Amino acid sequence: MPFPTHRLRRLRTTGRLRDLVRETRLDPAQFILPLFACPGEGVRREIGAMPGNYQLSIDELVKECAEVPSLGIGGVMLFGLPERKDEIASGAYDENGIVQRAVRALRRELPELLIVTDVCNCEYTSHGHCGSIKDGDVDNDVTLQWLAKTALSHARAGADIVAPSDMMDGRVGAIRQTLDANGYEKTPILAYAAKFASVFYGPFREAADSTPQFGDRRSYQMDPANGREAMREIELDLEEGADMIMVKPAMPYLDLIFRARERFDVPIAAYQVSGEHSMIMAAARNGWLDRDRAMMESLTSIARAGAGIILTYFAKPAARLLG
Ligand code: PBG
Repeated sequence: MPFPTHRLRRLRTTGRLRDLVRETRLDPAQFILPLFACPGEGVRREIGAMPGNYQLSIDELVKECAEVPSLGIGGVMLFGLPERKDEIASGAYDENGIVQRAVRALRRELPELLIVTDVCNCEYTSHGHCGSIKDGDVDNDVTLQWLAKTALSHARAGADIVAPSDMMDGRVGAIRQTLDANGYEKTPILAYAAKFASVFYGPFREAADSTPQFGDRRSYQMDPANGREAMREIELDLEEGADMIMVKPAMPYLDLIFRARERFDVPIAAYQVSGEHSMIMAAARNGWLDRDRAMMESLTSIARAGAGIILTYFAKPAARLLG
């Protein structure tokens, strides 16, 4: 009979005891803050569905990033809103595109900032899909060429890590080959390996102006019902040369973060996506949840599941609380 010998409440008696036996600790160094670069100057446009997040012109982006290293935050993930969109996503791989210019400015102004770039096409295509359209669907192999060019242009601009989020088959291999062939064999790839066709990206599509103009992304992003397939996606990305992998979204997929942690000995990232963030913010604004506690509990659960790296729009407030 364990009781009364075993009383687990003993170690919960005081804050000091709880601190001592805590199994999961958050560190701002594991956070990556996603940011949205847009054209113009002095632009700081709040995103309606993502309170506290902004579309930022490059000068404002530099200001926004200035305190990232001093708060101890691991780095930033950059998305871009181009001046113009077209059928072939030219803005994505333009050497003078919005992300390429943003990276160069940040490199120059904040040399110690870690810069990750999202490599995708949906913000740059007039139809809002993540690649080249053929017969009403995204053509995988043509899209690989766009992605490889985009990743190379980001590396040339000075990105520390490139992160393909398109879910085309073979993109990690295509990007690795192109980077290596051009002298960027040291640039790591963080693969959005298990990325699901999720309703929780809704607010982001307002932020990045990337809503598909027809259909949806279910012919390339994963079915939320499939966990085994997520392991295959991760396995293949690693075989193709991914240095790190990501599960996205985070909280509805904690089981997959856990399974990936058990199975693969590589750094694992999880993306607490826009909808996860906005749900907490909306409830907090209604007085239904305490924002700070909901933020820290959600981040702790993602870390406890096994993510060593967390992409989160809460990076700054969470780092301040941890500071
Ligand atoms: C681009 C991309 C998306 C997100 C990250 N990269 C949108 C999508 O796939 O529709 C979502 C991020 C978020 O919701 O915070 N493909």
